[in-house]
Order: sequence, then C-alpha cells, then structure tokens
Amino acid sequence: SEQGCLSIIVLGASGDLAKKKTFPALYHLFDQGFLQSGEVHIFGYARSNLSDDGLRERIRGYLKGAPEDLSEFLQLIKYVSGSYDNGEGFEKLNKEISKYEESNQSGSYRRLFYLALPPSVYPSVCRMIRTYCMNPCKYGIDIIGLFAASHPGWTRVIVEKPFGKDLDSAEELSAQLGELFEEHQLYRIDHYLGKELVQNLLVLRFANRLFLPLWNRDNIDNIQIVFREDFGTEGRGGYFDQYGIIRDIIQNHLLQVFCLVAMEKPVSLKPEHIRDEKVKVLQSVNPIKCEEVVLGQYDGYKDDPTVPDDSNTPTFASVVLRVHNERWEGVPFILKAGKALNSRKAEVRVQFKDVPGDIFKCKKQGRNEFVIRLQPSEAMYMKLTVKKPGLEMATEQSELDLSYGMRYQNVKIPEAYERLILDTIRGDQQHFVRRDELKAAWQIFTPLLHDIDAGKLKAVPYQPGSRGPKEADELSSKVGYVQTHGY
Ligand code: BG6
Repeated sequence: SEQGCLSIIVLGASGDLAKKKTFPALYHLFDQGFLQSGEVHIFGYARSNLSDDGLRERIRGYLKGAPEDLSEFLQLIKYVSGSYDNGEGFEKLNKEISKYEESNQSGSYRRLFYLALPPSVYPSVCRMIRTYCMNPCKYGIDIIGLFAASHPGWTRVIVEKPFGKDLDSAEELSAQLGELFEEHQLYRIDHYLGKELVQNLLVLRFANRLFLPLWNRDNIDNIQIVFREDFGTEGRGGYFDQYGIIRDIIQNHLLQVFCLVAMEKPVSLKPEHIRDEKVKVLQSVNPIKCEEVVLGQYDGYKDDPTVPDDSNTPTFASVVLRVHNERWEGVPFILKAGKALNSRKAEVRVQFKDVPGDIFKCKKQGRNEFVIRLQPSEAMYMKLTVKKPGLEMATEQSELDLSYGMRYQNVKIPEAYERLILDTIRGDQQHFVRRDELKAAWQIFTPLLHDIDAGKLKAVPYQPGSRGPKEADELSSKVGYVQTHGY
C-alpha cells in the first residue's frame, strides 16, 4: 500500500550528507506537498547528544524557505541518539516510531531508513534495523523468514556509495546486506541517476526517430563523458585519499551515464527491464587497459594534513572503455573526471565521424557533435556546419541549441535527492543500482584499481585551475577525438 503513515529515519542525522542533501531534499518534498503533516514523521538518529530542537536548529541553517513553512516542517522531526552497533538505541528508535504509528492509526506502516553514514557501519546498522526496527508484525514477533504476516506497508533502506572498494569487498557487502534484506527493499543511490538530463537520456535516444539510425559505430566516432570540478577535496582529503577519483566519480556516476548512453532499448520502461539492459552493456565492456589510462594529482592535494605525504591517489583520471558488441565495437568511450580543474561541468559529448567526400573542404571547422550538458545550466546542443551568412560561400560551425534556462524558464528542475527519495517512497527502483549491476561495474574497474593501489600506475601532477594533465588530451586525440573549434 502506498497509503498510511510514513516514517523516514535518517541515520547519521548530524553528518554532512544529511545536513546538506537529505534534510533539504525532504524539506523540498514537504514544501511541494509530497510529504504531508499528519502522514509523515521524520526521525534523525546519530550518536551525538542532541535535543529535538538542537537537531532542528542545525538543519535550519541549510534550508531556504519562509520561516513559518520551515517551522511546520521542522516540527515533523524528532531526534533519537544511540550508537550504531548495539541494540539499545535501536530499541529506543523503534519505540519512538511505533508511538507515532499507533497515534496515526492508519494500520499501514511504511518505514524508510536512509543511511547517511560511512559504509563501514552499513552491515551492523542494517542488522540492527532488521532486528529491532522492521515494519511491525500483526501478531507481535517478526522472525526472519518465518513470519510474513506483517501489517500492510513496507520497510525500505537507502544506502549511499561507496559500495565496497573493489569487486571482492563489494560482493562481501552485498552478501551481508542480502542476508538481511530482499533486493526490492534495498535502494542503492547513485545521485547522478536523479539528475534531469540523465533521466532524459533514454527519452532522447528512444523517442526520437532522428537518433535511432545514427547511434552506432557506423556514424559515431567517439563519446566522451566528462566531469570537472573547480574545487579540490577541501576538508574531505582523508576520506578521498582512500578512494580516489575513479571510485568517487567514474566507477559510479560516469559509468551510470555511460550505461544510459550505450545500452540497447529495453523491452519496456519497467525498472527490471531497464536494469537488465544496463547490466548487459556493462558485461560487454572489457577490463580497462593500462595504456588507455591517464592519472593526475593536483599540486597542493597533499598539503591536506589528513593526506599522506607519499599519496599516489588520483584526483584526476581519464580512462577508455571498449564495448564489444555489434553497436559499439571500435568506438572508444572516454570517461574523464577531475577535481581542482578550470571549471565545473558534467557533460556527454558524442562526436560523429567525418563526412565522406567533403566537397566544402570544411574539415577544419570540426565534426558534428551532440552535447548533453548535465550541469550546470542544463542544455543539449548539436554542432553543425552551416554556410557563413554573407555573400561568400564559406562555412562555419554553429549550434542548434536547447538550453533549459531559456526553453523552460518557469520550470524548477528538481534536485536529484528529492526525486530519488520520492521514487523510494513510491517503490520505483528504476533509478537505483541493482546488485548485479554493481558487480558488473566493479568487474570493469577492479584490475585497474589494484594496479593503481600497487603503485604500478603513477599520477602525474597538474596545476590546480588547469584542464588537467596534457597527457589526457593526448590520450583523447590518440583514440580518435578531434578537438572542435571553441572547445
Ligand atoms: C559525490 C562525490 O558523489 O559527487 C563528490 O563524492 C562530488 O566528490 C559529488 O563532489 C559531485 O556531485 P554533483 O551533483 O555536485 O556533481
């Protein structure tokens, strides 16, 4: 049932993710009427000793809204303190949730647990939830597997990456969580799947006749999926250093975008059909070859006292994916991500092949490109060669431009977390990562990551505020990318 009372439990409520992303997303859902007072209650859980008001004040600092709306929203939040590995706190939490559920009397109990926590505590926290905090059973006791007669409603758990550090650790984590929850109860968030233009990718590809015959190795020369940030690891150096840019951005966010760009058409829009196709395309990718990798580390990264002086952790990486199937054989997908670069941008750049028999001799103007800018300023544009207006017959490159800021001036584009939390409440797993998908993703990157961890590949230094190592541009050209005018 999608009706009845809803308890949203944010574990790690005093942490950064909760304050910056989770609570603001909940507030926006509330503000738009998706979470209504009387039907929803929010519980913050963490180790710190805080009062309800103490937590509310912390959250208030991250919300922008009218004071009366804020206080109406903040009143929905209660705080429970306890540790992540013993039962006492979770029993207390369960009591609080039950108290609210009983007062609501709808008879249908929905419990959504959001783990805004470091991954090291996932297994123990999930075990605690499983033992103490499940959607209560009609007849009192809920013994795993033996008693299915629970109240109408559900228990769902949202977890955040990193899901492991390589194939084996990810599989171990999956197995641990898999013992406690069914796959349909687990929502592995990759917030890139909640971005407007990422969600638009399947529509673009499969609802436009124009692209159907073009989207393949006959017409496309190469595809780049690029993430840039114009700031460094700022205060997160200690965390970041254990993971590096490949685990932080490429293996999850960019690979998800890759799946949507490269996968075959799903049988239908059912979440399982879409995820089946994503798994298939991931399985068609070979492990990455070291010759097709460039790693970089910005100067100054190691000044962070929490980063070891001899760290080889990449803050920049460019890797080439090779897809062995009928559609993509021979087309390189260049996935590139970097911190402390010259701009903040995420985009997909599809570069088409040269025109055969070019009578205009306009090669130097560049190839056709279709660019999907995920952020900032969402846009799609197509680079075309046109006649330069005027008396001369000359050509130049111009753009067919669909900028969302212009086209959809009065539409507010929702935040990724808002959408994904709403999907979880609705039980739609389409934009979440399935267990087999995660495994296939780690299979592609694990050999490379092990080589990097063993020091076999070195990160080259680059200047903060630059485009990153020049070797990355050289790699792109080597595999076929032709720099077009103005890029
Ligand atoms: C997170 C990474 O997953 O994504 C961060 O851990 C990164 O390092 C962030 O800054 C980028 O997200 P967005 O939505 O700002 O592009």
